[in-house]
This record gives sequence, structure tokens and C-alpha cells, in this order.
Amino acid sequence: MTEATKAGLEGIVAGKTSISTVGKEGLDLTYRGYSIHDLAKKATFEEVIFLLLHGELPTLTQLNEFIDQLMSWRSLPPELQTVLKLIPKDCNPMDVLRTGCSMLGTLEPEKSSSLQLTIAKRLLAIMPSMLLFWYQYHMGKGSIETSSESEKTIAAHILHLLYGHPASPSQIRALDVALILHAEHEFNASTFTCRVITSTLSDFYSAITGGICALRGPLHGGADEAAMEQIIQFKSADEAEVGIKSMLTKKEKIMGFGHRVYKYGDPRSDIIKEWAKKLSDEPSKKNLFAIAERIEEVMFREKHLYPNVDFYSALTYHFLGIPTFLFTPLFVISRTSGWCAHIFEQRANNRLIRPIAEYVGPLPKPFIPIEERN
Ligand code: COA
Repeated sequence: MTEATKAGLEGIVAGKTSISTVGKEGLDLTYRGYSIHDLAKKATFEEVIFLLLHGELPTLTQLNEFIDQLMSWRSLPPELQTVLKLIPKDCNPMDVLRTGCSMLGTLEPEKSSSLQLTIAKRLLAIMPSMLLFWYQYHMGKGSIETSSESEKTIAAHILHLLYGHPASPSQIRALDVALILHAEHEFNASTFTCRVITSTLSDFYSAITGGICALRGPLHGGADEAAMEQIIQFKSADEAEVGIKSMLTKKEKIMGFGHRVYKYGDPRSDIIKEWAKKLSDEPSKKNLFAIAERIEEVMFREKHLYPNVDFYSALTYHFLGIPTFLFTPLFVISRTSGWCAHIFEQRANNRLIRPIAEYVGPLPKPFIPIEERN
């Protein structure tokens, strides 16, 4: 296999970006030049969205205006509410966001590319509403009000809609940090999908819908849910040790470990692990945290593999009382900010993305008329 046809395009530079650095020698994960460690410690998700969309951190006035806009765009059009009610209760909630995003594109179409920033903000504001409206409707809560401005931030709004009451400051901050960590990651599969769709001059909603489809798979966004299922199957750390070793012997993948780019550890993992630890404030949570840490130890000892962002994010979400099947949709809500920034960047200097393939099929042969085939 030649360099250019490496499986999975591993290591292939597929374009230029000024949005983030991932796994570059000597460089941390950065968004627009800012270290993920600083952003996770000192910024809010709203500041990070502004940074990704505008290229600069907001001033206080800009941030307040931005938050006001996001709050005012949370409401669901009645037609969209009807569609959300029709989406089955037992479907994968990624399909809710995929369908919701596509439906919004029919109700509020992108008539001109000058609307792209407005659409980006509308999508970021409305996605939590779509997801939690569908969820609560099917939990028997009826048509919940999603346009409330009682919570200023996206993290607080999500948890309020989920719990039915305001969350605590530490719960809100834990989710806020998880959203920051998932916001952007260079040319990952879903972002690249968005850029390919954008490069055909398709509309904004199509690009985001495509990103959601790519993120749905367990090798990408779906890993956090699969990781949680794996963690909770064990009752103790010792049981996890035996179970994980046996899975490795059978060549099974342990979800939430390994990464295409980070071969020596994902910088986001320790940050979210701290939050999982902070939230493990009761015996059953402490036990789950111990199980997770033992899995981490075994994976390093046996395979030299490190946890990626999804492993301890899964535990953090679980400790926040978020149902497992909503983990990946939360990833969508966060990553939409990065996708939007990449759509802007692709459009600003567009050329159709159309690589070529190495042909490995049959040599040319004569056509056989149908009556002579057997
Ligand atoms: N569990 C067990 N073994 C793993 C593993 C995991 N999570 N991740 C990688 N490996 C092993 C592979 O089996 C392979 O071993 P081999 O050389 O003996 O065949 C080797 O490590 C290389 O793995 P490979 O799948 O080729 O790496 P990749 O760069 O193509 O894949 C991932 C990267 C992320 C797809 C892969 O690590 C994975 O499937 N992880 C689990 C899913 C996940 O957490 N995804 C979220 C990513 S943020």
C-alpha cells in the first residue's frame, strides 16, 4: 500500500485549518491558539463557541450579547414539535438530532450564505431543546417548554430540562467542561464529513446533518455510550480486571481507549477524569470510579493504550444522572460549534473535495450479452 492509500487515511494531511491543533509535536490541543487546559479551567462553553465561530475570545459585552441571542433562539417551531413527537420513543436519540436538524432546514432554510452565522447560533441554541423535548415527551411529561430564559448557559439549560429543576453549580460546571472538551478536534471523521458536504456548495443544515450521521458510530462519537455499558457490567475493580483481560484475549475492543492521533494519551482525558472523581461523592459512584481506574490500569499494562476523552466523560455524564443513550447527542450539541467553524473556514476558501482511489478491481474484459451469461 502506498503512502497515499494508507488505510483510514492515517497520517494524511487532507487540508489546512486555523481552528485547532491536535497531536502536533510540542503543542497542546489548542482552539484558535488557546490551550485546552486553560479553556477547561478558565472559560465557559459559550466563550469557547464564540472563540470558534469568531476566531477571538469575546469581551464581556460581546459575551453577554451572545448569550442573550442564544437564549432567545431556544424555542421549537410547532411543525418541528410535531415531528419530534412522531419520532419513536425507542429510537436512537442521534436520529432525533439528525431528523430535527434536517427538518429545521426545511422550516428556516439557508436562503443565502450570509445567514451562516445566524444559522450556526440557531442550531447551537435549539439542539438541546430538540433533544430534551423529544425525551420528556416520550417520558410522559407532555410538550415541555424549552424557550425558558431562566438559565443563561447551555449546560444549565440542558440539565434543567433534563431534571425538571435547576442543577447545582458543580453539576453545571462539570457538563460545561465536558462540552468544552468535545467542542473541536480538527479533521476527525464527522468534521471532515461536514467539510466534504460543504465543499459541494450544499447548504449549512446538510453539512451539520452529515456530521451527526458520522458521529453516530461507535468508533467515533458513540464510544462514550459503549464505554459506559462496559464499565457498569462489572461489580468490582477485581471483576473488571478479570473481565477486561478476558476481552483482550478474545481480541475485543475496549471502548473509550486508543486514538488515531494520540498514541501517548489524550490531553482531555485527565481533565474530565478530575470531574468524574469530584462527582463520585457516594459509595456506589466511588465503586464505579474505582472500576474505571482499574480498567485504565489494565489497558496500560496489557496494551499500552490510554483512555480517550470518551472514557471518563461517560462516567461524568453517568454521575450527572444523564441516561446513557443521551451521551452521544450531548457530543453533537458540543461539536456543532466546531463543525460550524469548519464550515465557515471551508466556505471562505472552497475547492471541491474529491480525492482519487487506487484501483484494485478486475482488468478490462469484454462485455457479455445477457442471453450468453450463465
Ligand atoms: N481496545 C483494544 N485494543 C485496541 C483498542 C481498544 N480500544 N484500540 C486500539 N486497539 C489495538 C488494535 O486492536 C490494534 O491492535 P493490533 O495491532 O494487535 O491489531 C492496535 O491497537 C491499533 O488499533 P487500530 O484500531 O488500528 O487503531 P486506529 O488508529 O485505527 O483506531 C480507534 C483508533 C479510536 C478507532 C481505536 O483505538 C478504537 O476502536 N477505540 C475504541 C473506540 C473509541 O474509543 N473511539 C473513540 C475515539 S475518540
